[in-house]
Amino acid sequence: MPEKVPAKVTMEKIVSLCRRRGFIFPSSEIYGGLSSCWDYGPLGVELKRNVKQAWWQSVVHERDDMVGLDASILMHPQVWASSGHLEGFSDPLVECKTCHLRWRVDDLKENNCPSCGGELTEPRMFNLMFKTFMGPIEDEAATVYLRPETAQGMFVNFENVLNTTRKRLPFGIAQIGKAFRNEITTGNFIFRSREFEQMEIEYFVKPGTDKEWFDYWVKERLNWYLTLGIKKENLRLRQHMKKELAHYALDCYDIEYQFPMGWAELEGIANRGDFDLVQHAKYSGKSLVYFDDEVKKHYVPYVVEPSAGVDRSTLAVLCDAYDEELDNDEIRVVLRFHTKLAPIKVAILPLSRKEPVVELAKQVYTDLRQRWIVQYDDAQSIGRRYRRQDEIGTPYCVTIDFQSLEDNQATIRERDSMNQIRVPISTLKTVLTAKFNGEDLFVLPPGGQIWKGGEDKGQKN
Ligand code: GAP
Repeated sequence: MPEKVPAKVTMEKIVSLCRRRGFIFPSSEIYGGLSSCWDYGPLGVELKRNVKQAWWQSVVHERDDMVGLDASILMHPQVWASSGHLEGFSDPLVECKTCHLRWRVDDLKENNCPSCGGELTEPRMFNLMFKTFMGPIEDEAATVYLRPETAQGMFVNFENVLNTTRKRLPFGIAQIGKAFRNEITTGNFIFRSREFEQMEIEYFVKPGTDKEWFDYWVKERLNWYLTLGIKKENLRLRQHMKKELAHYALDCYDIEYQFPMGWAELEGIANRGDFDLVQHAKYSGKSLVYFDDEVKKHYVPYVVEPSAGVDRSTLAVLCDAYDEELDNDEIRVVLRFHTKLAPIKVAILPLSRKEPVVELAKQVYTDLRQRWIVQYDDAQSIGRRYRRQDEIGTPYCVTIDFQSLEDNQATIRERDSMNQIRVPISTLKTVLTAKFNGEDLFVLPPGGQIWKGGEDKGQKN
């Protein structure tokens, strides 16, 4: 079995792997990049989709009390006055009088510029919303904002959703979408960027039951990260202190992950009380109340809001999956993704580029890709191909060799253990399906054989 080496996950290793293997690139890289914006490459886009799919599945498809929404990014500017963002969504900013770099006061450990040591200006408040203009005239009246959170789309659609779905309390609306913040300090790769994606829930409840639902969602959301395969010891809950609470929040917990740079927020779960519906009712003149037929009364529901970051969840998944081990005097880098998150589920590796091996391998590839995302890889030695698939977290590699032409069998190699089994090609789909469902690979179909990780089974490239 491969030996464990004490591998420290660093952000440099994650960034380099993501760049090298096509998970994440700097935005507009050929022009020198655009600060704090990132592009998800061919593997990154699949990984991120899988994270979003796992969230949607757990909070919408598997529940009777939740529905989805996809609101527009540009909203009526009044929304941001009502929500408090125009006035309050600001960070205190200081500028270095020498090098003119700007810093967020909360991020500073000393009183001088962290870059050149220069003197800093007095703090001033800086609104984090990006502005743009609607239509051909660029004036104050045409100003609109790129939403800084997806949440407001759900509050302003509360009545639409209530009337069209006829949901009764408690019920929630879920949304995944882009949000934009003109952050003063960014960094740590995709952890804090200016364009990012959120996965948010607004869960409407009867006032008085909000504390109970708040506790429920804190537990539920923490548990979701465990279902992604994230290690328990790398997750923790942190309750906000009174002075930290956002202007709308009665209570708030952060779910934090132990990133390479330290513990940091993955998701916030807030008890928003009735702040948002009351504000939107006040500014829009619409009555945003709920009629409770049990008590025959109108009231404004309270809201519990679990608000997660897609990019931060994806980064946590990458950091948590990253592993290094010593294998035959070489370091094997492996991303031990949960199978439901792995961008590529199966790789088909023919041991020859000659016919008829290629024909058989292509047949297997065509057959398996009807069910999973499958990659066909015939470049370089089999050892290098295994390493490549390990590095991108592919759970299973299927090799087709000359013997396959005679016995109609193929070898499945498992990413984590490197164990190999040989099974009839006709059973590949069944064996892999069982494996993806968490059943034991070593329950072999008739005619199968097993090799333990690292054993030489005489394969040559
Ligand atoms: N609606 C509530 C809200 O937006 P938030 O704590 O400001 O709350 C929620 O944001 C989540 O969005 C955070 O926990 C984080 O995962 C993600 N997020 C916020 N700002 C981000 C940024 N600049 N870059 C990446 N993700 C961010």
